Parts: sequence; structure tokens; C-alpha cells
Amino acid sequence: MPGNNNVCDLGLVGLGVMGRNFILNLADHGYRVAGYDKDEKQVAALKKEGYGNSVDASSSLAEFIAKLKKPRAVMLLVPAGPPVDSVIDDLKTGLEEGDIIIDGGNSHFTDTNRHTRELEAHGIRFIGVGISGGADGARHGPSIMPGGQEEAYERIREMFEKAAAHVDGDTCTTYLGTGSAGHYVKMVHNGIEYALMQLIAESYDILKRGAGFTDRQLHDLYSEWAESELNSFLMEITATIFAQEDTKGQGRLIDKILDEARQKGTGKWTSQDAMDLQSPVLTVHAAVAMRHMSALKDEREAAEKRLSGPERRIGTDPQELTARLKRAMEFAYIVAFAQGFSELSVASREYEYGLNLADVARIWRGGCIIRAALLNDIMEAYSRSPDMHSLLTDGKFAGRLEELQSDAREIVAIATRHGIPVTALSSVVSYFDSYRSGWLPANLVQAQRDFFGSHTYERVDEKGSFHTQWNKLEG
Ligand code: 6PG
Repeated sequence: MPGNNNVCDLGLVGLGVMGRNFILNLADHGYRVAGYDKDEKQVAALKKEGYGNSVDASSSLAEFIAKLKKPRAVMLLVPAGPPVDSVIDDLKTGLEEGDIIIDGGNSHFTDTNRHTRELEAHGIRFIGVGISGGADGARHGPSIMPGGQEEAYERIREMFEKAAAHVDGDTCTTYLGTGSAGHYVKMVHNGIEYALMQLIAESYDILKRGAGFTDRQLHDLYSEWAESELNSFLMEITATIFAQEDTKGQGRLIDKILDEARQKGTGKWTSQDAMDLQSPVLTVHAAVAMRHMSALKDEREAAEKRLSGPERRIGTDPQELTARLKRAMEFAYIVAFAQGFSELSVASREYEYGLNLADVARIWRGGCIIRAALLNDIMEAYSRSPDMHSLLTDGKFAGRLEELQSDAREIVAIATRHGIPVTALSSVVSYFDSYRSGWLPANLVQAQRDFFGSHTYERVDEKGSFHTQWNKLEG
């Protein structure tokens, strides 16, 4: 398409696999897209796709900008942090007032707020977009979570609606809210992703070390679960993982993978901001901490030689164990999602995003990593009661949790009795039990604070702040 200026519907910066795939996705829907990357090799790779008139690629920023229809819409698919800052800096000089920059990476929401402010001064509009689904999603339909200036979003709305995944004829994208709403929702998506992954990992531990399941048995069981109430992308890929042979040697690949989980940090951000907002997302905290625990491989190996515990082998009949575990996992899925949605609800109030949580559930039903059948019910629950504090109190979910809780408790008890760590699974039970406790022992914490630091406390029978001259310890 050389020589054709002002013809492209969208410009895309960053021609790695995500960027390239998203461009091809848009081209499939009839859009003309220009790609830009400093790296000639990436430019050549996109050109090789041979999309004729629909796709162009360049390593010259000026050439790239000239291709775009006005007001220009330039989307970034580059790693979060300094690379986003540097591309925005470069673009600022080439773009004009009224143009739009769209950041489609996993940027921290405070960076998105900063970019919005800084670009406003140049008259450039900014949209922060969370995109989930990995390379496959980008190519065939991701879940797209946009936030920012609504009238700027209108310029790209139709493109995103077509490129996103579709579920029951409904597109998995919608305008979510002001400012950094899109990136915040994506961050919490990843927090829930960490929680579900850790929960599944713990179920695997119970089955593998506790019940001696082979990889073939694990594959069969998780495949069955993936077709049940636990239907979800993460359950599906888990089943597939257990079937993968190791091409470098004998046996299944899963048994050759080092047990140290890495992270780019989005789950940790969910946990950190939940701390700032005082929104207790126990299972996200647990999942992040367990990645850290997994990284202490040498320490764990040394400690294993010194610290003993009970026999890990669980005697329970495997059929009974798997039936209970499946129900415990459904309980855990519900409670993990509930925590994430509660954080979103608190964040929406605090940061004035104006989130519609039914919409969030709706656009997570397809394309993204945490897509799950359960999200249909979550969407309906938030449509019924948009302002509920917790999904746990929705009538339908409360009833289901009632049916499932004894199995969740039993699984935590069995695992604990056999020395199998269930940090995330036990956190869902504790979350449920503390949330349903009208009274918690925090009165004692208050008394202790007042005792040693005169921090004062409130009373149940009288308004105000009180301090007591506590009877000091003898001697
Ligand atoms: C997605 C994924 C994606 C990425 C995570 C991995 O929704 O498509 O969440 O964003 O795979 O960033 O995160 P960690 O490296 O932190 O596990």
C-alpha cells in the first residue's frame, strides 16, 4: 500500500506476536491497519503475512503516522512500563490535537492516569485498554477492556467490537469507564487468574501426591471437569497440559518442568492495590505469596530434609475424593471470583470509574484467560443487583455455596491432615467464614492496640473513641 496516505483505520505500534496477530484480526474484519516497529525484522515478518492492501508496515515513524486517517488512532502493544513511556514520548511530537493513543498492554493503572494527564496537555486523547487471551486471542478474538474518554472510544468502538471474541452473538468488549478503568479491570482479571491457577495447582497436588494419580488419570479427570460446572479455559488447558509428551525425553512434559512459578507482576498489583483499598482479596494474596514460596526452591529442598510431617498419601476412596474435590473447586471458583468483583466494586467507588460489573462479567465470558461458564451466572447476578457488595450474598450463589461448603471444608481438612499445602483453598473457606461472621475477634486486636499504644477503640454500646488505663502486667 506504499504511497497511500491517510487511509488506515488504525495504527499499531509493536509488531511482536500480539501486535501482529491483532493487526491480522482487524484486517480479517475489513479494516486497513498500519504497523510500526523500530525493529526491521518485525516489520518484515508482518509484510510477509501478505495482506495486500489491508496491512502496511514501516520502521519509519513519520511514514507510519502519515498512513493514518484523521483523527488518528494509534494503538500500542508494547511491554508495560518504560517501553510504553518511550513510545508515547515519540508519538507526542508526530501526532496532532484530537488524535488518540490507545495503550493495549498490561500497564499499571497509575501509569494510565499519568499518561492521560500528560497527553491532555497536548490535546491528545488517551484510552487504556486491557486485552486478554494471549497470542491466540489477539488473532481470533480476545476480551477487550477499554477505559478512558468515552467520546474518544467511539472512534475505535466498532473495530474493537468486531475484533473481540463473541459469545452468544454478544461481543466481549464494551466501554468500561473513565480514566484507567480498562487497565484496572484487566489487572483484577489477572489477580483472579492467579487465584484460579493456584487453586487448580493445589487440586493437582492433592491428586498427585495425595492420591497418586498418574498424568493420564489427571488428564481424564480435568477433561471431565472442564465439561462440568467447572467449565473454564484454565481447566481446559490444564487437562491438555497433562497429555503433553516430553519431546526431549521420556514421559510427560509436566513432570520435567521446574516447580518455580514466575510472574510479570499484575497479580501482585491486584493484591497491592486491594491492600490500599482495604478490600480483602485473601485468595489473590495467597496465590501471589505461593508464587514467592515456589521460588524458594533451594530453601524448600533443604527444609524438606529437616522438617517432617504426616504421611502425604490420602487413604480416601479416589472416587469419593474426586467428587468432593470437584465440589470444593466449584466453591473455590465462586469465592475467588467474588473477591475480584468486590475489589472492582470498591475501586470503582474510590476511583470513580463508574463500572458496571454485569458488563465486566459479560465481556469476560469469552476470549480471556479466566473465561468460565460461571461468568454467565455472575453477569445475571450483577444485572439483578448492580450495587451488591459481594457476590456471596446473591440468592443463587448463597444457595449454591450452602450446598458446596461441606466438601470445601472436608478437602481443606484432609489436605491439612496429610501435610499438603492448600493456601488458596483454605483461604476461600476462611474468606467465606469471615465474611459471613457478624462478629470477628477484632475487638481483641483493638484492646491490644490500645493497651500497648493508646490507639483507642470504639464500644458496641456507646458512640465515640475510648482509651483505657489497662491494668499493667505484674513484675
Ligand atoms: C492474559 C494474560 C496475560 C499474561 C499475564 C501473565 O490475560 O492474556 O493474563 O496478560 O499472560 O501477564 O502474567 P504473569 O507473568 O504475571 O503470570
